[in-house]
Amino acid sequence: MTTTRIGVLISGRGSNLQAIASACATGEVPARVVLVVSNRADAAGLAWASGRGLATVVLPHSEHPDRESHDRAVVAALRGAGVEWVCLAGYMRLLSPAFVAAYRDRILNVHPSLLPAFPGLHAQRQAWEYGAKVSGCTVHLVDDELDHGPVVVQRAVPVREGADAERLAGDILVEEHRAYPLALRRLLTEPWRVVGRRVQFGTVSLP
Ligand code: GRF
Repeated sequence: MTTTRIGVLISGRGSNLQAIASACATGEVPARVVLVVSNRADAAGLAWASGRGLATVVLPHSEHPDRESHDRAVVAALRGAGVEWVCLAGYMRLLSPAFVAAYRDRILNVHPSLLPAFPGLHAQRQAWEYGAKVSGCTVHLVDDELDHGPVVVQRAVPVREGADAERLAGDILVEEHRAYPLALRRLLTEPWRVVGRRVQFGTVSLP
């Protein structure tokens, strides 16, 4: 099986980066993290990545006049490392259409809710404040709209009685760390295609 070259984009803690890199290391995901990009020099995930011997680069968005310019620098770094698939893992930046087009249907994101419920920031708190009994996480392909592209994997998480938003976020994070490697594994090892909003796995024979 060939090993796909993955680039992971982070802005902070990097626990999903760890889940992805670990799944690559164990062979659960037939891929290799060849570059970790952060738009923030203080992202905790960078230290973890360096400690693991992963290549890292910091590309601060503040050094660019606009989103497109910053994204061009990020795409150049990814291409320079031969990245084939891009994983957004707590990357707190919207991608420009040019970035999405550069890696069309090859960019994944994880969001801490069952989309289309609770898109945007603080999704776990949104779900908790709404009084939802079930939330979860979504791994989806990235398109031009925020938290919107075709769903690859979703995992439900019950909102435990008495739990606060932080507890819910912790419960969801556990599932994120399962869902992201699972989504990658399926996309890299099974036949699939995008049909409208749907990621269709398997070979589909038409009537
Ligand atoms: C996760 O909850 C993810 O769903 C959201 O940002 C958070 C990133 O956490 N997009 P980490 O940096 O991967 O620990």
